[in-house]
Amino acid sequence: MIRSVVCGYGAALPKRVLSNRELEDIVDTSDEWIVQRTGIRQRYIAGDDETTASLGEQAARAALDNAGLTPDDIDLIVLATSTPNNTFPATAVEIQNRLGMKHGYAFDMQAVCTGFVYAMATADLHLRGGMAKRALVIGAETFSRILDWKDRTTCVLFGDGAGALILEAQEGQGAVSDRGILAAQLRSDGSHREKLYVDGGPSTTGTVGHLRMEGREVFKHAVGMITDVIEGVFTATGTTAENLDWLVPHQANRRIIDGSAKKLGIPPEKVVITVDIHGNTSAASIPLALSVACSDGRIKKGDLVMLEAMGGGFTWGALLVRW
Ligand code: ACO
Repeated sequence: MIRSVVCGYGAALPKRVLSNRELEDIVDTSDEWIVQRTGIRQRYIAGDDETTASLGEQAARAALDNAGLTPDDIDLIVLATSTPNNTFPATAVEIQNRLGMKHGYAFDMQAVCTGFVYAMATADLHLRGGMAKRALVIGAETFSRILDWKDRTTCVLFGDGAGALILEAQEGQGAVSDRGILAAQLRSDGSHREKLYVDGGPSTTGTVGHLRMEGREVFKHAVGMITDVIEGVFTATGTTAENLDWLVPHQANRRIIDGSAKKLGIPPEKVVITVDIHGNTSAASIPLALSVACSDGRIKKGDLVMLEAMGGGFTWGALLVRW
């Protein structure tokens, strides 16, 4: 039985850090309000010379170095993003070109903040189906470019960045103790559109648009949706919260993360949190958090790791991987 095994990780952040204090000069807000409501202390903002493609390329190169591989070893790139460099071609194809690859195939995946979970689940199917041998799965975003910097209810929440994992198809027994992706659950429900959307696009306004969000409404649904898919993955794999070594959630808001972990009975010391330093980087937040927790030695080979996210659409999902 083929499993998709993680064999490398990497991350990239823009050069510029924007603190809550600096935001006080841009909109009517305070460090205290932002920290208390969200847990965010700072975020990274892309400069003119930094794009989703350049950050994605940097994260991909870091993951290749970490795995001891070169672009020649990769035959699939899946990029999760809602902030592509252009409407087309796919930014994944631009990253493929930046890596000097003329072989294999690459495409973008759009599921907003759940994008990385969707991308991992999709790459897993391609590897298990024999379409590819090794995949670069990237989450890269420049949300700063679609924020309304006059809207204090949204502009304080988001940041830019990229993270990447490399998945390799490996033959295994199919046991829960074997390394690789064990199961995933993906969901979406478009009736929630108005609660979180971008008010522009090529086929409607012909503009890029700005992010609009009813924060309280998103918050109301988040914990229930997240815990529902995580429980689905536990049931599908015969595992429980006690078996879990790490929960690596999408980093939107500290209160949503704490609320979900508490409802599932996952102790705080098993939850990876980076929202304080990165803000909400949408599809990049999970691979950025994974990169932090792998580099500091928390996540180790053989650990059972649950990834989860919820975002615009709504979309939501969870994925369990034996690291
Ligand atoms: N600074 C100071 N005050 C503010 C700010 C700010 N940046 N933003 C809003 N306020 C004010 C509001 O105007 C309001 O004032 P009022 O009571 O006088 O009307 C007050 O603070 C409370 O506003 P709420 O929106 O009720 O605050 P809440 O406690 O709900 O926190 C937040 C807002 C942080 C946005 C929260 O609702 C949240 O985290 N929601 C989930 C958002 C989320 O996770 N989104 C990402 C999903 S992922 C994706 O797909 C992109």
